[in-house]
Amino acid sequence: MREIDLDKIEINMGPPTEEPARQYYFMAKCREWIRAESKRLGRALTCATVTFGCQMNAKDSEKLSGILQKIGYVAADTEKADLVLYNTCTVRENANTRVYGRIGYLGRIKYRENPQMKIALCGCMMQEAHVVDKIKQSYPFVNLIFGTHNIYKLAELLYEQIQSGGMVVEIEKESGKIVEELPSERKFDFKAGVNIMYGCNNFCSYCIVPYVRGRERSRKPDDIIREVEDLADNGVTEVMLLGQNVNSYGKTLENPVNFAELLQMAEQVEGIRRIRFMTPHPKDLSDDLIRVMANSKKICHHLHLPVQSGSSRILKLMNRHYTKEDYLALVARVRAAIPDVALTTDIIVGFPGETEEDFMETMDLVSRARYHSAYTFLYSPREGTPAAVMEGRVEEQVAGERYNRLIGRIRDISQELAAESTGKIMEVLVEEINTKRENFVSGRLENNLLVHFPGDKKLLGQYVKVKLLECMGFYYLGELVGKNV
Ligand code: SAH
Ligand code: SF4
Ligand code: F3S
Repeated sequence: MREIDLDKIEINMGPPTEEPARQYYFMAKCREWIRAESKRLGRALTCATVTFGCQMNAKDSEKLSGILQKIGYVAADTEKADLVLYNTCTVRENANTRVYGRIGYLGRIKYRENPQMKIALCGCMMQEAHVVDKIKQSYPFVNLIFGTHNIYKLAELLYEQIQSGGMVVEIEKESGKIVEELPSERKFDFKAGVNIMYGCNNFCSYCIVPYVRGRERSRKPDDIIREVEDLADNGVTEVMLLGQNVNSYGKTLENPVNFAELLQMAEQVEGIRRIRFMTPHPKDLSDDLIRVMANSKKICHHLHLPVQSGSSRILKLMNRHYTKEDYLALVARVRAAIPDVALTTDIIVGFPGETEEDFMETMDLVSRARYHSAYTFLYSPREGTPAAVMEGRVEEQVAGERYNRLIGRIRDISQELAAESTGKIMEVLVEEINTKRENFVSGRLENNLLVHFPGDKKLLGQYVKVKLLECMGFYYLGELVGKNV
């Protein structure tokens, strides 16, 4: 990344108007304040960024942490920090409930232990007016609130807060510009997410994302590939291309490039060994894309293909633009072209009007599509979405009982599929020290399944050969048989 040296910035004049220069100016201003504070307190100032949402939310958190560390905060792994930033999610009600609970808890720490703590909230939940109203009323100790469209402005907003001392709130209704070339602090040295597009135009009837993330816009392919090259130069070997509907990538560009073409460009980048992407929408998954995946040595044979329901009637109410039959035909095309593909999915149970027959269609689809794993969710009404006012609310108890039957079926199939690989020797990218088993590390197979095996931190970021000894359902226990593949 072409970052700017803060020491070279003239901070005694007014701020520039163009970006990203304006943000670097405010970073320099904030750093001056942080240095003075550190001196006064005789210690470094710490910060903690907590992610509540999806991969895109996590990617935003890396950018936010990058800015905070650039201005002199030291990352802490506890929320008893001098600045705590919650990057929130509002996709389901329980995400919101968790955030409110944690803000209350933070407030208590602030009053008891660190009155000068700054509490900042950002992300999808903050794009909802009723949330911001509630925070202003019930949590007056919060210092800074911003949304999804202005995360690049963190330094400017923080500086405003430092100056005013009160609560600063800035929510932009619509996405303005895409500001690039800002600092970013990656969680892993060897793998990284790369945004290829922002927002979503699909308006699935249950989903709040288009309202809180704005309209779909794609980044230019050159900018994306340059970022992938920079990452590779810095030791990254696995990239995940991120967007709410990656296979509609490129439609809004001046010179349209489609997602299959973008993948082929990413494949050319030397040093990258694994390419993943998240999330494709079944209605837009092209045969071109399937062919590119099948022929590629780098694109992982894992496809996360959210189905949401197996009932064509419910799919129509969900505004998904495909039927059960379309989806199963697509799965058959993918399997014919890529026989070792691992399929995963998302399913919603208890959508308004879902009958026992509709649910049995979902059970049937799951048996036929045979997923390696699936995320299952109880339908959660989101204010402002069409589904929230649809008739036929499914009773909690009925939905819960369906949910349990569904996860039982999914678990049985996942176990069968995973058991097929027991005894094989496969390539694993070692990602983490295992926190539950002593002297174990954890990594992922190309198909995204987790493997835990004895090892130490020297293996982190390496590709190794592991024998899969025992299948434990969603993961394997294995043993190292060879290094540095
Ligand atoms: N853009 C992605 C994922 C978006 S959110 C996609 O289109 O697949 C991730 C998942 O959350 C969705 O796939 C859906 O299964 C679930 N989800 C979204 N809104 C929901 C709601 N209101 N209630 C329950 N689950 C929901
Ligand atoms: Fe939500 Fe549908 Fe867009 Fe996914 S594709 S983010 S489920 S509206
Ligand atoms: Fe949540 Fe926003 Fe992602 S609502 S799922 S963090 S796009």
